[in-house]
Amino acid sequence: ALVSMRQLLDHAAEHGYGVPAFNVNNVEQMRAIMEAADQTNSPVIVQASAGARKYAGAPFLRHLILAAVEEFPHIPVVMHQDHGTSPSVCQRSIQLGFSSVMMDGSLGTDGKTPTDYDYNVRVTQEAVAMAHACGVSVEGELGCLGSLETGEAGEEDGIGAEGKLTHDQMLTDPEEAADFVKQTKVDALAIAIGTSHGAYKFTRPPTGDILAIEQIKAIHQRIPDTHLVMHGSSSVPQDWLAIINEYGGEIPETYGVPVEEIQEGIKHGVRKVNIDTDLRLASTGAIRRFLANNPAEFDPRKYLKESITAMRDICIARYEAFGTAGNA
Ligand code: G3H
Ligand code: 13P
Ligand code: ZN
Repeated sequence: ALVSMRQLLDHAAEHGYGVPAFNVNNVEQMRAIMEAADQTNSPVIVQASAGARKYAGAPFLRHLILAAVEEFPHIPVVMHQDHGTSPSVCQRSIQLGFSSVMMDGSLGTDGKTPTDYDYNVRVTQEAVAMAHACGVSVEGELGCLGSLETGEAGEEDGIGAEGKLTHDQMLTDPEEAADFVKQTKVDALAIAIGTSHGAYKFTRPPTGDILAIEQIKAIHQRIPDTHLVMHGSSSVPQDWLAIINEYGGEIPETYGVPVEEIQEGIKHGVRKVNIDTDLRLASTGAIRRFLANNPAEFDPRKYLKESITAMRDICIARYEAFGTAGNA
């Protein structure tokens, strides 16, 4: 059944688990996520980014998610819009039937330029008023995702701020977070702790100076009743990087957010964990390997099946590691 984000995250908080929120762009990702949820009896958050809506079209994404609900009626599913850049973007998604939206007022309508605090409060308040009137949950964001190593917002074609970010912009302040939640009444708050979108998060296995898990504890202590969200939470599996590079890929050395650090976050109020890149890496590695080993094969279902299996195994591992399993 389709459920609201608020309902699911309240349950997660009550029982001390986290929920991975996987980005969805195509039927293979949707199947991987649902098969994994079915096998582990986990509730699901699927989210559509602006890039996904541009790639597949919002109606296709919507019906993919509705198809998942139809085929797996026993699994609770949140249909979430990722990184809305304005209240009107959120409004369109609500009209399409999304049960949850993100109003990311930390960046401007271009999805790149950092905004000031008052702007963020104003647009988030506007989105919340509209969404709550329709029974839809809202995730806000305070602080900008970015690398504490380099000040860069993160690579790839994901959303990223322009120019360099300051250290302060990349760490959410607990006091400001308390004021933001009070003023906006968001259902969940995305925080900045040194993670960034895409595969190039850290040039070395992260330590506390570049991945600020301690900041989560400080924020959670100040606003214990707020559901916290970690973006840029792919772990960038080294085994999949090796497979991609073994079969013709060229991905330089890079590191993601270790699953153990996410587990530490979940102990301190993190309830939603955004993951996109890990599924992209697993999918690419599986397809590269299959095509290299089966050069005469040309039925896309053959290699896309490998992609589904690879993504499904990552989903299963996250559902188990975050304590989501068994909570559907
Ligand atoms: O927000 C970042 C997600 O990884 C989505 O990326 O805009 O390329 O779909 P995308
Ligand atoms: P990753 O790029 O680490 O998978 O993060 C995805 C994300 O935060 C989507 O909003
Ligand atoms: Zn994100």
